[in-house]
Amino acid sequence: MRILHFDLILFLCLSYFCISGQCCFFTCRLYEYHFIAENKSWSEAQRYCRENYTDLAKVFDMTDMSRLRNSTQNQGEAWIGLNNNTGGNRTWHWSLPGVEYIQNDSSWNLNGRYGNEAPGNCGRKRYDNGDKKLADVSCDHTMWFICYDEMKEDKRFYLIEKFMNWTQSQSYCRSQYTDLASGLNQVDGEEMKALFIGRVMSVWVGLFRDTWRWSDGSNFSFRYWDMQLFNDEQSNKTCAMTLLNRSGNWSSDECDKEKPFFCYDDTLILINVNKTWEEALDYCRKSHRGLVSITNPQEQEWVQDKAKNASSPFVWLGLRYSCTLDLWFWVNDQLVCYEKWSKNGTTEECDVAVGMQSGGQCQ
Ligand SMILES: *[C@@H]1O[C@H](CO)[C@@H](O)[C@H](O)[C@H]1NC(C)=O
Ligand SMILES: *[C@@H]1O[C@H](CO)[C@@H](O)[C@H](O)[C@H]1NC(C)=O
Ligand SMILES: *[C@@H]1O[C@H](CO)[C@@H](O)[C@H](O)[C@H]1NC(C)=O
Ligand SMILES: *[C@@H]1O[C@H](CO)[C@@H](O)[C@H](O)[C@H]1NC(C)=O
Ligand SMILES: *[C@@H]1O[C@H](CO)[C@@H](O)[C@H](O)[C@H]1NC(C)=O
Ligand SMILES: *[C@@H]1O[C@H](CO)[C@@H](O)[C@H](O)[C@H]1NC(C)=O
Ligand SMILES: *[C@@H]1O[C@H](CO)[C@@H](O)[C@H](O)[C@H]1NC(C)=O
Ligand SMILES: *[C@@H]1O[C@H](CO)[C@@H](O)[C@H](O)[C@H]1NC(C)=O
Ligand SMILES: *[C@@H]1O[C@H](CO)[C@@H](O)[C@H](O)[C@H]1NC(C)=O
Ligand SMILES: *[C@@H]1O[C@H](CO)[C@@H](O)[C@H](O)[C@H]1NC(C)=O
Ligand SMILES: *[C@@H]1O[C@H](CO)[C@@H](O)[C@H](O)[C@H]1NC(C)=O
Ligand SMILES: *[C@@H]1O[C@H](CO)[C@@H](O)[C@H](O)[C@H]1NC(C)=O
Repeated sequence: MRILHFDLILFLCLSYFCISGQCCFFTCRLYEYHFIAENKSWSEAQRYCRENYTDLAKVFDMTDMSRLRNSTQNQGEAWIGLNNNTGGNRTWHWSLPGVEYIQNDSSWNLNGRYGNEAPGNCGRKRYDNGDKKLADVSCDHTMWFICYDEMKEDKRFYLIEKFMNWTQSQSYCRSQYTDLASGLNQVDGEEMKALFIGRVMSVWVGLFRDTWRWSDGSNFSFRYWDMQLFNDEQSNKTCAMTLLNRSGNWSSDECDKEKPFFCYDDTLILINVNKTWEEALDYCRKSHRGLVSITNPQEQEWVQDKAKNASSPFVWLGLRYSCTLDLWFWVNDQLVCYEKWSKNGTTEECDVAVGMQSGGQCQ
């Protein structure tokens, strides 16, 4: 379906602007952190954040962690929005931020452990003639592993021929490359397969499962545990805190302990009134800071999540095609530096504004 600028649909406004005028790759986020220097239990802190902001802080990746730390001078402990209240139910996650875990039995060998492999909470992939699948094994096994480098286009996967347990291999990949290989597109893909032609082995990939959940229900998979202080086993310490003292690394404590805390505040607002693109643009500029634009994959995910709540099939974004300039531009004057379109690509017509399908992708 094609949408034109005079169609009436809902839209998303932004209540703040990026600081830089250029593309703010990776550092620009659609939420802000607030440090609250009052001592509260975890659930009191949650109530405070939900009333005064959006919720207790959630953390998407290392950039968020850096923003969180930068939002206070405090060097003690502070609650974040991660909590183990799932009754011990574990959920699988991919290590690479933004890659959603989707169960697909055909990628798993459900009783595919070998030799001395004990069942566990980390995922490894096997390469031999018959079995090429995932299995859940104990995270303290040591084996070779596959790192993924998102900066490279030609060679994105690396087989690291060192024996490490899962946590060590994750740290290694995060320090030398981007992360452990994550997502079925990666681990079942041809590029990774090519590393193993004629070889038989098991390797770690970026798959783990834990019992921790974010207060706002989001599925962010990023974890930043302090491995010396945190123990993910039987424990009554079921709320997570950041140790600003120790580079912000996380540990857990009993939830009724009183500590300062971090809230987050959404800066993206879905306006529940149908308007044309020009009206929407005008409305957002007057009442807020502008119509939302997307400059990186993380923002894309965030905006998609918001758009899911819309009652119209599409929502407006601050993007428009200009024939005279022959390029797409964001209405806050950034050039288009991140593009993700619905399957059939961009439309070549002039003066077409862009909406995002409420289910997700751009149109
Ligand atoms: C919070 O508690 C700590 C330790 O109990 C204390 O040092 C600090 O002064 C308290 N902060 C506030 C704002 O009450
Ligand atoms: C919201 O903030 C105000 C002012 O800081 C505070 O008095 C109030 O208790 C907060 N709400 C909750 C639920 O804690
Ligand atoms: C946090 O502060 C440090 C030092 O001031 C700076 O280098 C870094 O870029 C900041 N991080 C973010 C995400 O703004
Ligand atoms: C910093 O951490 C050390 C040990 O990890 C602790 O003894 C000290 O009290 C912490 N300092 C603050 C300000 O919390
Ligand atoms: C844990 O999982 C089981 C089975 O999926 C479900 O019935 C139960 O409600 C879950 N418990 C919690 C606290 O989510
Ligand atoms: C699961 O994976 C198989 C093989 O890669 C694919 O054909 C199938 O469509 C996938 N199923 C789902 C539900 O994604
Ligand atoms: C991995 O190895 C490190 C260093 O030997 C150790 O501290 C850590 O507990 C191990 N992790 C697991 C899950 O076995
Ligand atoms: C989190 O993941 C579950 C299962 O994969 C999904 O049903 C749920 O909608 C996701 N939640 C959000 C906020 O995306
Ligand atoms: C998480 O909660 C479950 C069930 O309440 C408990 O068995 C487990 O020990 C907890 N894990 C941690 C790390 O606190
Ligand atoms: C948690 O466990 C510790 C030691 O295992 C105990 O001292 C403490 O009282 C327990 N806390 C609660 C709230 O049960
Ligand atoms: C906006 O328009 C859609 C149809 O495109 C309609 O379903 C929806 O109810 C309208 N929403 C409002 C708030 O008027
Ligand atoms: C993409 O366009 C082609 C031809 O224009 C059409 O056959 C195809 O169905 C379109 N695919 C989608 C996903 O819209």
